[in-house]
Formats: sequence, structure tokens, C-alpha cells
Amino acid sequence: MDKILVTGGLGFIGSHTVVELQNEGYEVVIIDDLSNSSEKVLDGILAITGKTPIFEKLDLKDKAGVEAFFTKHNDVKGVIHFAASKAVGESVQEPLLYYENNIATLVYVLKELKKLSSASFIFSSSCTVYGQADELPITESAPVKKAESPYGNTKQIGEEIIQDTCNVVPDLKAIALRYFNPIGAHESAEIGELPIGVPQNLVPFITQTAIGLRDQLSVFGGDYPTPDGTCIRDYIHVVDLAKAHVVALGRLLQNKNQSNYETFNLGTGKGSSVLEVVQSFERVSGEKLNYKIVGRREGDIISAYADTNKANNELGWKTKLSLDDAIRSAWKWEQKVRGKS
Ligand code: WQD
Repeated sequence: MDKILVTGGLGFIGSHTVVELQNEGYEVVIIDDLSNSSEKVLDGILAITGKTPIFEKLDLKDKAGVEAFFTKHNDVKGVIHFAASKAVGESVQEPLLYYENNIATLVYVLKELKKLSSASFIFSSSCTVYGQADELPITESAPVKKAESPYGNTKQIGEEIIQDTCNVVPDLKAIALRYFNPIGAHESAEIGELPIGVPQNLVPFITQTAIGLRDQLSVFGGDYPTPDGTCIRDYIHVVDLAKAHVVALGRLLQNKNQSNYETFNLGTGKGSSVLEVVQSFERVSGEKLNYKIVGRREGDIISAYADTNKANNELGWKTKLSLDDAIRSAWKWEQKVRGKS
């Protein structure tokens, strides 16, 4: 079966995608710099699939290292590119760190793919490229707006770099997958989200509050123009998201793509408010969550959820797992990680 490179393959979405690739029989090689992950994740992948992927510790900013990797692994048929810094707030404080780590590395990988006889490239993008969309649900033809953060800008610029490259490299074809809000963990609780420090994202903050690591969840804003006053997002189970990557890769490897560069929104198509996520946690855990509604968070958009028609009809993929399934898996993972399961 084809050899697939997964950059950032020990990260949250990367590790779940490696599991699904191995379940499909692909040979997987991971590049990860371990800046936001741990080699122990390999044990989790082995526990789930019975196979340990090839792992090479490498910082993709090391151009010579990237060249050496592709010289050694010149039989790579496809790349799923997750490796990037992804903290929105940090990117505002450290823009150059984000432009170097998210853009220069993408260029180095693409330059190596140019040398291969044919290559399929899947890019980890984000619904953040839409900003606050004018129309909901959000389709792939919604206008890309000026990014609200350098992080979001690196996703927009990354998509443009890939499109420009595919236009002139005949044997390179790519798909950008625009994720909505990935949450949850593999049902085995062998792998999951491992935020470093204080979680920025809602669901890990909820589970860390419930397990006792955080005192109280602050709900950022209760006065938005939404039914319950809190922001709405499209929370997608990370396993559904991982499976979408395998489907997208297969589309390119089997030459089913309709152009050499395509984009797909990956979401459930359903919006959930912050309070609905809290209620989901209380429902599935049976625990009361300590939270308080406070002021709005700078940069937050009011509402975003995906129009899933293109992914359903052209990719032949749709989500199967619910918000409760995702929250239940996130809680099971948190309890296991803290030794309380
Ligand atoms: C969701 C909602 C918060 C924490 C970001 C990135 C996006 C993607 C996913 C990388 C918002 C509220 C949160 C908390 C809260 N990341 N919230 N209290 O901001 O939609 O998306 O993460 O690809 O690109 O932009 O996700 O989980 O941070 O917030 O009330 O302690 O939860 O205000 O309404 P977001 P989030």
C-alpha cells in the first residue's frame, strides 16, 4: 500500500488521522518536531492499530533536513500536512514565529514534492479563513476575509501558495480541508488532545475544569445576538475529521479530483452554542460544571457552522458522531490522562 507522510502526525488531529490511515492499510511515516506533542503518542497509535508508524523527529524549518528526508523516503506517494503552530492568541504576540513556522515549512515541503513524479497533498486549513461569514451555513465559495490573526493569515496564505504551485506543477494535486471546531478523542482513550499549559479551546477547558485542574470555566460573552447569547460553533468529532482526510487522500490517489486544487469544509453542519456544549457535558458526564458568564473574548466571531453539501456530495463523506459522542470521548480521555478512570 502507498507510503504516506503525515507532518505533525503526533499532534491531536494528526495522530487520529495516522490511526485511520493505518486502519486503511497505508504505510505511514510521521515527521514531528515534538514542540507540541510527545513520542508517547506512538504507544497510543500502536495500542489502537497494532502497528507503529515510522517516526522521524525533524523541525521542518530545517531545509536541509527536509531535503534529506525526501531523499531517503523518495517513495512517498502522498502528504498530509498538519505541522504548524495553531494558537490564535500567541500568533498575535509572535507573528514572525507563525509566518516562519507555518509558511516557510510549507514551502520547503512543496519544493520537495515538485521533485516527485506525482504527489498528492492534503493541507490542514481552517474555517477561520472565512472570518465572520455574511451567510450561514458557510459554503466553500464564501469569501475569504482578512484574517483576524496571523495564525488565520498563515492558513489563507498557505492555501494561496499551494494553489499557485499546483497551477504550474502538473503532477501535483492538492486538497485544502477547512476544519470547523475539532473536539473529542478516540473511543479507546489511547490518544486525544494534549493542550500544553492553560487550554485556549472550549472543550479541553471544560474537561480540565470538571477534573479539578481549573477552578471555573469562563464563558466568554453572554450578550451575543444568538438564541442563548453565547457564540455558536460547529463542533466536529476528531475521528470523523480524521476519516475525512483518508477519503480526501483517496480521491487524489485514485485521480477522482475534479481540478488540481480543491477545498472542502469539514463540519457537522450543525451549530452549537457554548452553553449547549456545557449542557452536553453535564448530560453525558452526570457532573455539574462550574462556569461563569464573563465579558467577550477579543477576536471571537458570533457564529460559524458548515454547509456540508460539497463534502457530502463530492467527497462522499459526512460526519457520523454527535456532539454528545465527542464530549463523552473528551471526558473519558481527560479522566484517563489524569489517572481518574
Ligand atoms: C469556541 C467558543 C469561545 C474557551 C479556534 C481557532 C480555530 C481552530 C479552533 C485551529 C468561542 C468560547 C472558549 C473558554 C469560552 N483552531 N470559549 N471559554 O475560537 O472557535 O476556534 O480553535 O485550527 O482556527 O480559531 O475555538 O474553542 O477557542 O472557542 O467561552 O475558556 O468557546 O469564546 O465562542 P474557536 P475555541
